[in-house]
Amino acid sequence: MKLEKILYGGDYNPEQWLHRPDILEQDIQSMKEAKINTVTLGVFAWSMLEKEEGVYSFEWLETIINNLYDNGIKVILATPSGARPKWLADRYEEVLRVREDGVRYRFGGRHNHCYTSKKYREMVKKIDTELAKRFSNHPAILLWHISNEFGGDCHCELCQTEFRHWLQNKYKTIEALNQSWNTTFWSHRYDSFEQVESPSSIGECAVHGLNLDWKRFVTYQTTDFLKEEIKALKEVGITQPITTNFMYDYQGLNYDVLAKELDVISWDSYPVWHKKEDIVTALDNGFQHDYMRSLKHQPFLLMESCPSSTNWQGVSKLKRPGVLTNASLQAIAHGSDSVLYFQIRQSKGSSEKFHGAVIDHYGKTDTRVFREISSIGESLSNLTQLLGTNTKAEVAIVYDVENRWAMEDAQGPRNKGLHYHESVMKSYRACKKLGWNVDVISEEQDLTNYSLVIAPMLYLFREGMEQKIRAFVKQGGAFVLTYWSGIVDENDSCFLDGTPYGLMDVFGLRRTETDGLYDGEKNRVVEVEGDRVYECETLCDLLEATTAKTLMVYGEEFYKGTPCITEHQYEKGFAYYIGADVEQRFYDDFYKMLQTTLSLKQIVAGTIPDGIEVNSRENEEVEYIFIQNYKNETIMLHTMNVEGELLYGKDKEQLGAYETIILKRKK
Ligand code: GAL
Repeated sequence: MKLEKILYGGDYNPEQWLHRPDILEQDIQSMKEAKINTVTLGVFAWSMLEKEEGVYSFEWLETIINNLYDNGIKVILATPSGARPKWLADRYEEVLRVREDGVRYRFGGRHNHCYTSKKYREMVKKIDTELAKRFSNHPAILLWHISNEFGGDCHCELCQTEFRHWLQNKYKTIEALNQSWNTTFWSHRYDSFEQVESPSSIGECAVHGLNLDWKRFVTYQTTDFLKEEIKALKEVGITQPITTNFMYDYQGLNYDVLAKELDVISWDSYPVWHKKEDIVTALDNGFQHDYMRSLKHQPFLLMESCPSSTNWQGVSKLKRPGVLTNASLQAIAHGSDSVLYFQIRQSKGSSEKFHGAVIDHYGKTDTRVFREISSIGESLSNLTQLLGTNTKAEVAIVYDVENRWAMEDAQGPRNKGLHYHESVMKSYRACKKLGWNVDVISEEQDLTNYSLVIAPMLYLFREGMEQKIRAFVKQGGAFVLTYWSGIVDENDSCFLDGTPYGLMDVFGLRRTETDGLYDGEKNRVVEVEGDRVYECETLCDLLEATTAKTLMVYGEEFYKGTPCITEHQYEKGFAYYIGADVEQRFYDDFYKMLQTTLSLKQIVAGTIPDGIEVNSRENEEVEYIFIQNYKNETIMLHTMNVEGELLYGKDKEQLGAYETIILKRKK
C-alpha cells in the first residue's frame, strides 16, 4: 500500500453524536491539533445506515467524510457487518449464531452472526454494494476495512450442512474420513457424511481429527464470508486496498488463510502494561507485531490501540507517561505504517463508556493524554521517510496455529498446561536480547532465506514439513527444534516408526519417551563440557542420541545423565534439539552461543542492556534503528553501538524512562 504519510488517528463513531453538531465540529479541530490525518468510519454503523430494510441513509456519513476531507483527514471506511440492526435479526432469525450445544443466540452484542447464512450474506452484500457505489470515488477514502475482528463459530444447521460438504470435498469417501480421524477408537465410525456433526460438549468432542477439521472449516467459512464482502466491493469497481483487523494471539482462526485475501494486514493491539515487567509486555507485543508483518512480509497497519486505559481488561490501568509514545513507536519499529487508536471520541454510554480515547468526556484538549497524543502526531509527521522501508530478518520462529490447535486438544503429556506460547516467547526474548530482527512464521512459509529457524514444540507436521526442515539444514541452515516435536501428522494421527518424524537422522537422535512434570516440579540440565547448570520444568523428552553430540544432560531423575540438549551436523547445516522446557537463562546463553557460531546480523553491536528493545527497518540505502527503553528509569547506552544520525529522540548516550531514539545509518 503506497502512503504519503504515516497514518495517524483511529476509530471514530460520529453516528453516536449526530444530535450534537457542535461536538462533531469540535472533534475535527481537535484532530487537527493532534495532527491526526486518518479516521476509521462505519464500524458498527449499520443501524444508522439502513434504518429500514432497503432504505439507506448515507447523507450523514457523506457530510462527515466531506468535512473530514476538507480538513485534510482521510478515511478508512468499514463495512458494517460486525453488528446488525435489530430489525434484521428479528426478521431473519437464521442470521443469529447457534452455540455448540444447539442453543440459538438472541439479538444483542456483536461479532455473532452466522457466516453461512445466505440471508446474512445477501443483506451484507446489499449494504456493501450501496456503500461502495456511494463512496468508492470519494478522494477521502484510503482503504476499506471489512467487518470487524472476525471470530467465533456457529453450529446451526446451515453450518452443519456446509461442514459436511467441506468434508466430502476433502475426503471424498467416508472410509477415508474414518481412517484419517481414527474413528474406530471407541466405536465412533461414521457410515455417511450426513452423520457428521460439529464438535459439541454434549456430543462428540473426543475425535481430535474432527475438532481439528472443524477449526479448519471455521477458517474456511469465515474466509469465504470475507471473500464475498470483498467481491461485493470489487464488483462496484473500488480501487482502494482492502484489510480486516486481526486480534492479539487469536486462536479461533488461521490468519494465514485470511491474509491471502487481503491487500494489507492490520491488527488491534491492547497490551496489559505495568502488570509484569514492561520489557516482557513490550516483547510480547513486539512478537505479535512481527507475526502480523510476517503474514505478508510487508509493512502492516496498527489499526487499533488504546490511548489511555483499556476498560475490558481486569483492571483499567493508566499508562505511565511516555508508554503510549513508546507503544506507538514500537509498532512503527516492527514495520507498521500507522498508529491508530480506538477511539477518537469516548462514547457517552454503553459498554465502552470508560474505554480510553483521544478525546474523553471532558471534551477539551488540555488533558495529559491528549498532550501525549499531539506530541506523537508531531513526531510521526516528521518520520515520513520511514515509508517504503521494511524489516529484514535472518532469523525466523515458527509459531503455527494448527500446531497449537492439535497440541492443546490432545490429552497428554500435560493437561495442566503445555505453555506453547510461553515456550515460543523464551526463544523470541533471547533473540531480541541479541538484537536480531525476527520473523514469526507458520509451517506454510518458505524457510530458504533464513540463516536460523527456531521451531519450539512443533508437535504437528503439516504434509512435507519434515522434508522442508531436512532441505533447509542440508543447504546450510541452522534449525532448532524443541521437545514434543514431530509427533503427529496433519490429521493429528501419531507418526509410527519414531520421532521427531522423518528427521531422526537429521538430528542424530530419537525421542523415546516424554516425562510430564507436576506444577512446581523441576529437573536440571547440566553442561557436558563445562559447568553450566539450568533448571527445566513441565516437559522433559528422553532422548537416545545416535550421531548427535550431547551438549547437556539431565541432572536428576532416573534419566539423569541422558541427553537433553544436542547438536548435530547434517550435510552443510546444523540441527539442534532442546529436549526440555528449560529456563530463560538457558535460551539467552544458547542463542548467544549460536550468534558466535553463525555470525548473524545484530542490529547494534555490543550488549543490549536489560529493559531495552532494538528493531530496524531499511531500504536499499538507509537503515533506521529504533532503541526503546521499557524501564521507568534512565538506562545508559554505552555498552552498545549507537552510531548514526539521531533522527528522533534526545540523547544517544542515555535513554530516560520510557524513551525512544531512532538512528539513521547509511548502509
Ligand atoms: C476491539 C474492537 C473495538 C473496541 C476495542 C476496545 O477489540 O475491535 O471495536 O471494542 O476492542 O478495546
